[in-house]
Amino acid sequence: MTFTQRVFSGIKPSGDLHLGNYLGAIRRFVPLQDTHETLYCVVDMHAITVWQDPVDLKRWTYEIAAAYIAAGLDPRKSIIFNQSQVVEHAELGWIFNCVARVGWMSRMTQFKDKAGGEGGENSEQVSLGLYAYPSLMAADILLYKATAVPVGDDQKQHLELTRDIAKKFNHDYKKQIKALGGKGDFFPVPETLATGPAMRVKSLKDGSKKMSKSDASDMSTIYMMDDADLIAKKIKRATTDADALPSEAAGLAGRAEAENLVGIYASLSNRSVDDVLGEFGGQGWGVFKPALADLSVAVLAPIADEMKRLVSDRGEMDNILRDGAARARTIAEPVMAGVRDIVGFVR
Ligand code: TRP
Repeated sequence: MTFTQRVFSGIKPSGDLHLGNYLGAIRRFVPLQDTHETLYCVVDMHAITVWQDPVDLKRWTYEIAAAYIAAGLDPRKSIIFNQSQVVEHAELGWIFNCVARVGWMSRMTQFKDKAGGEGGENSEQVSLGLYAYPSLMAADILLYKATAVPVGDDQKQHLELTRDIAKKFNHDYKKQIKALGGKGDFFPVPETLATGPAMRVKSLKDGSKKMSKSDASDMSTIYMMDDADLIAKKIKRATTDADALPSEAAGLAGRAEAENLVGIYASLSNRSVDDVLGEFGGQGWGVFKPALADLSVAVLAPIADEMKRLVSDRGEMDNILRDGAARARTIAEPVMAGVRDIVGFVR
């Protein structure tokens, strides 16, 4: 099957996968493989922009690839691979370092958060790679001339920068692109791909914070590999207010923790929040939490079982990732050859 649009997305192997990764990203990737050409990457080169223990890095790389497959990505339909096996990511990333401007990088909120403000108070502490992170991300996408990128709101700024890099490359090398027979732009300008209403999963302990692998409290995050008892325990101890559930979504306003739990229920069951509240409105948490725990286990346990089966077969995982990298390279190589010629590298 040939599709007109190519999708690229990636997840960093820098921690255990959690419910936010599943509902916010991985699960959304699955239906796209039937409507788009899809590449799903484990971005190990991005992960090492902050220190990663090498043993953990490997384990998490396999775990993400296994989660992609266990959640329903078919390695024959989607190209599933880890970034470092296609060295062209690094090569194009370098060229983009020479296209992007220092000022663009300095404005990235994700970098400022980690490096400590505009002046970078922690700049002795953070790696140069962290600064260049967005230009490697642009290389991930543009190496395949991908046009659609399914990412959450927190990546919007990085995608905007990718668009700026594509436009500046096309502009700076316009003459050479034409001289080499190109009609106009070499790189497409990619768009964020919206995949339905955004489910931003929040911490179980604080409804104003994202669910995250770096949370100080282990009770705030449901991991994809948690067993049934632990999932039930975390949901039971989740912070809530004392009120009953409202009968419609509007009644969740100002109740961030309640909104989060109902949102998770709706998302896991593919139902609307109003529909869920139609069922549970007027009930207390003593009824809702056990129902949410049962639903979470019903959805996550089969995926966790399949992930465990897959990661225990490293030979098979290596085959899948090697095959994915080879297929990725067949797309990347001609693009990269074009870039080398455009830039003026002798080869
Ligand atoms: N920066 C992304 C994140 O933290 C991960 C990522 C790297 C990515 N390269 C990408 C996402 C290319 C989409 C496309 O979530």
